[in-house]
Amino acid sequence: MEGCVKPLLERRSIRLYRDEDVPLQLLLKAVDIARHAPSAYNRQPWSFIIVKRRETLDRLAAAAGGGAPLRRARAGIAVVADPARAPHTHLIDASVAATYLWLALHCLGLGAVWIEVYGNGEAARILGVPEEKVLAALFAVGWPAVRPRPTPRRRLEDLVYLERYGEGPSNPA
Ligand SMILES: Cc1cc2nc3c(=O)[nH]c(=O)nc-3n(C[C@H](O)[C@H](O)[C@H](O)COP(=O)(O)O)c2cc1C
Repeated sequence: MEGCVKPLLERRSIRLYRDEDVPLQLLLKAVDIARHAPSAYNRQPWSFIIVKRRETLDRLAAAAGGGAPLRRARAGIAVVADPARAPHTHLIDASVAATYLWLALHCLGLGAVWIEVYGNGEAARILGVPEEKVLAALFAVGWPAVRPRPTPRRRLEDLVYLERYGEGPSNPA
């Protein structure tokens, strides 16, 4: 497998972590990589909050429906979108940065899972996100304690068309 493709295919959602600290420097390194994500007009409408405090991670776990991994995680990283910088694309841009962050964490040997917090006012309050900004994503992070099997994906021929939606070799017009 080509070097560039490998991490894209091998990243998994990691929800169980070893009982081992994750240095702040490593989390900063992941964010430093994530800030190279592309964005519309290169507006970079994002910021990141690194969380290491146990109490905050537990409060976030309670606030987010799918937040259980945060109880076991050694850190969290939130992605905050700024509508003032990019009124139409801030969420798309922040999601691209979030994906970069997830891949960066994976490439650094860390395990992470995206925790759904978009529109979660309680999670935004816990993190002190200003009213005019948007909490777009949150990651539970730690040293992986598991190597989960790949999760299933839809078949290529069921989701790719040629030239026009609905048309292609498997769906002749
Ligand atoms: C936008 C988004 C929200 C997600 N929210 C949660 C969540 O709240 N809790 C969780 O355990 N996993 C969450 N996940 C992880 C997905 O369940 C996971 O990515 C998917 O099942 C594919 O598995 P994989 O990441 O191992 O490839 C989320 C993923 C995305 C992209």
